[in-house]
Amino acid sequence: MLRDENRLAVVTGAAGTLGEAIVRHFVANDYRVAAVDLKAEAMEPLASELGSKVIAIGLDVSDAEAVAKAAAKLKAEHGPVSVLVNNAGILSNNKAVETSPQEWRKVMAVNLDGAFYMAREFLAGMKECGWGRIVNICSLGIKTGGLTAGTAYVSSKGGLGVLTFSLARESAGFGVTVNGLAPGYVLTPMVTEQLTEEQRQALLREIPVGRFCAAEEVAHLVGYLASEHAGFITGEIIDINGGLHMD
Ligand SMILES: NC(=O)c1ccc[n+]([C@@H]2O[C@H](COP(=O)([O-])OP(=O)(O)OC[C@H]3O[C@@H](n4cnc5c(N)ncnc54)[C@H](O)[C@@H]3O)[C@@H](O)[C@H]2O)c1
Repeated sequence: MLRDENRLAVVTGAAGTLGEAIVRHFVANDYRVAAVDLKAEAMEPLASELGSKVIAIGLDVSDAEAVAKAAAKLKAEHGPVSVLVNNAGILSNNKAVETSPQEWRKVMAVNLDGAFYMAREFLAGMKECGWGRIVNICSLGIKTGGLTAGTAYVSSKGGLGVLTFSLARESAGFGVTVNGLAPGYVLTPMVTEQLTEEQRQALLREIPVGRFCAAEEVAHLVGYLASEHAGFITGEIIDINGGLHMD
């Protein structure tokens, strides 16, 4: 049975900071991992370091046709997928008045459409196997309205949260769980490069734990949700924000 051995996980946005940590976590736990990002070359260093357990796939998740083709190839060459982590995402910090329709569409296309296209390709196989896990990387911004994050970004992540609920309800009777994470301020370029020093210092004063989140902490939580032990959790969006928002 797939849940015990030879498990294949698909991780999107695998060349990014969080994606790489998630890939490393799965490989360390004996999964084979299809590492998806815009360009397969971006994953070459990681794939050559981690060896044959990593299958690097260059793919734009916002392109439905390309997603369908890549998914069919993956399933034909490597068998069924038991875990999907929708982690690919782009940030936009513009608030509504500064957000152009093009920016809105681009952010929605990657963060929300992409996750839907990926889930659509792998969900049927999971249901057929009677086991599967989908984890969607949402954001703290869906609960706060976006402290520093912009309108398109938080709206796309809010949509991803509701997609999580819908997929969870559809799949629960088939041994498939679907959950999301709402991380706040993980130590990645989204924080180190896309926020000003002033914003970072202000946030550190606000985060009760007194630091930013490490990518590995998020990866462990994804690993838990993907595990056997998390079978009774579905349709949940789990906070990981150092106490910045409590509900
Ligand atoms: N860093 C944070 O504090 C934070 C907080 C909450 C949520 N998140 C979410 O976590 C996820 C990962 O964030 P990160 O900080 O590692 O960002 P990152 O920018 O380091 O990684 C994102 C990856 O997604 C890839 N990507 C972008 N568009 C793509 C597309 N169309 N198709 C395939 N891949 C694409 C990028 O190439 C990049 O490698 C994102 O969804 C982000 O919104 C991050």
